[in-house]
Amino acid sequence: GPTTFRIDAGNTSVTCGDGQRVLDALLRQGVWIPNSCNQGTCGTCKVRVIDGMVTAPPTPDSVLSDAEQQQGYVLSCQSTPITDIAVEPPAAECGERHHLLRDVAGTVGSITAVADDTVSITVSLDEPFEFTAGQYVELSIPGTGQTRPYSMANPPSESATLEFHVRRQPDGLATDRWIFDSLTVGAAVSMTGPWGDFCHQPGEPDVGLILLAGGTGLAPLKSIARAALDADPDREIHVYHGVRTEAELYDVDFWRALETGHPNVRYTPCLSREEWSGRTGYVGDAMMADFDSCRNHSAYLCGPPAMVEAGVRALKRRRMPPRRIKREKYTPAA
Ligand code: FES
Repeated sequence: GPTTFRIDAGNTSVTCGDGQRVLDALLRQGVWIPNSCNQGTCGTCKVRVIDGMVTAPPTPDSVLSDAEQQQGYVLSCQSTPITDIAVEPPAAECGERHHLLRDVAGTVGSITAVADDTVSITVSLDEPFEFTAGQYVELSIPGTGQTRPYSMANPPSESATLEFHVRRQPDGLATDRWIFDSLTVGAAVSMTGPWGDFCHQPGEPDVGLILLAGGTGLAPLKSIARAALDADPDREIHVYHGVRTEAELYDVDFWRALETGHPNVRYTPCLSREEWSGRTGYVGDAMMADFDSCRNHSAYLCGPPAMVEAGVRALKRRRMPPRRIKREKYTPAA
């Protein structure tokens, strides 16, 4: 029959099923480990195994150094126990509140083409779902055993219906061959979440938020902006959305309406490959043109890795302290 192992994490002990990953087991049973990619590429989820053994695919040095591996650190999102294990108790880092990881089922409520090769999808859930603005779920792709990550664009206060932004990737298993091909309104979907520590906690001591998005990296920033305005309608928020051409822009009306309703919200779409009546170039450069100093703001960046790295450099050049910069890089969810 199936084997289960015990994972001791300080004062707490959880069970781990056969083949279950350590991170998955801990997050489902209330032990919070910082995590981001759940794919073995970011290193955020590392834990030190102090007793027992796990199995995991080889980890590149760039993610976990040789020294760390020799000290017993493993990527909890990639590691499966093969004996009972004990891990060094993790310190929570994502604010006061964490939500249990769980499986969630829902029904597609709408699929709306919002821009070239981009759809906005809503999913009505069968039961309430808690998450923090900025987090994501992994959608199961039917018949493949595979999942793909999508960030919620809705705020946690409206969690009965989740909103996702999806851009088509040519020949992508999830996008081209499922979502853009055969997914229909009324279809049942299943997912696991919430994942990630790209989180906004209301009440951070700053003068305002700078949100830098590339493409559908806008989704978690929409959730963060709405949650921040729920908490304080006068919050200063500067949203920069970078896409290549005007045909790729979406949610313009949403952001314009938010600007109208909240005088401290400013929305700046930027096109990198096309001239138009608005701003051109990259979001980091646009931000630098608008700010002399970002010392007292906080920033959230989400988009392709090159965009995120350029944005972080721009914020640092405007003297934003690194601890105020939160980032989420996405690899295109093919
Ligand atoms: Fe495990 Fe990124 S390497 S969460």
